Amino acid sequence: MSARIGVLVSGSGTNLQALIDARHRGELAATLAVVVSNVPGVKALERATRAGIATVVLDHRAFADRDAFDRALDVELQSRGVNLVVLAGFMRLVGATFVKAWYGRLVNIHPSLLPEFPGTHAVRDALAARAARTGVTIHFVDTGTDTGPIISQQALDISPDDTAETLALRLHHVEHGLYPRVVDALARGLVTLEDGRVVKSAELP
Ligand code: GRF
Repeated sequence: MSARIGVLVSGSGTNLQALIDARHRGELAATLAVVVSNVPGVKALERATRAGIATVVLDHRAFADRDAFDRALDVELQSRGVNLVVLAGFMRLVGATFVKAWYGRLVNIHPSLLPEFPGTHAVRDALAARAARTGVTIHFVDTGTDTGPIISQQALDISPDDTAETLALRLHHVEHGLYPRVVDALARGLVTLEDGRVVKSAELP
């Protein structure tokens, strides 16, 4: 079955751009079927439109509760034949029903070496902890916050001169290299989740 990806975004979408660029270079064996944003007017939507990818805005403020939002999201993804959901700066927690329905086909990227520094302030937290290194984690999403089975990680040394801005920039650079590789491997069926265990037959960090 050929992979059809739904990318969920909320912001600038540089990781989405990395996926689009990989696809154009022939390095992503999948169709980017739809980009869904929970925030109207974000740069990620522009990037999708420029690349000819369908976009959908599901403004979470318009929904009665998380369940209603998640149901609408699920309908959008199903109706476009999506079989792999890629979170790329999606700043909204999805509920347990959605996670269970997509478990093993729902991945996220996080700017730390999980389980260190989960949550929305991973870069700031790593600096505050005076960590010598941090990195990037790509993982299957489970019902916890940044707790799902880890697929791939890449470390990055923190320099004494790093600020939150410089470190975030360098982490983004790592993300843009790693995410397309991992998503390609997922799309090719070279990374799967079996009985809660990540099985990889691709060369990945
Ligand atoms: C990335 O740092 C990612 O790790 C985190 O959100 C950020 C999204 O950046 N989950 P962008 O929108 O892809 O530029």
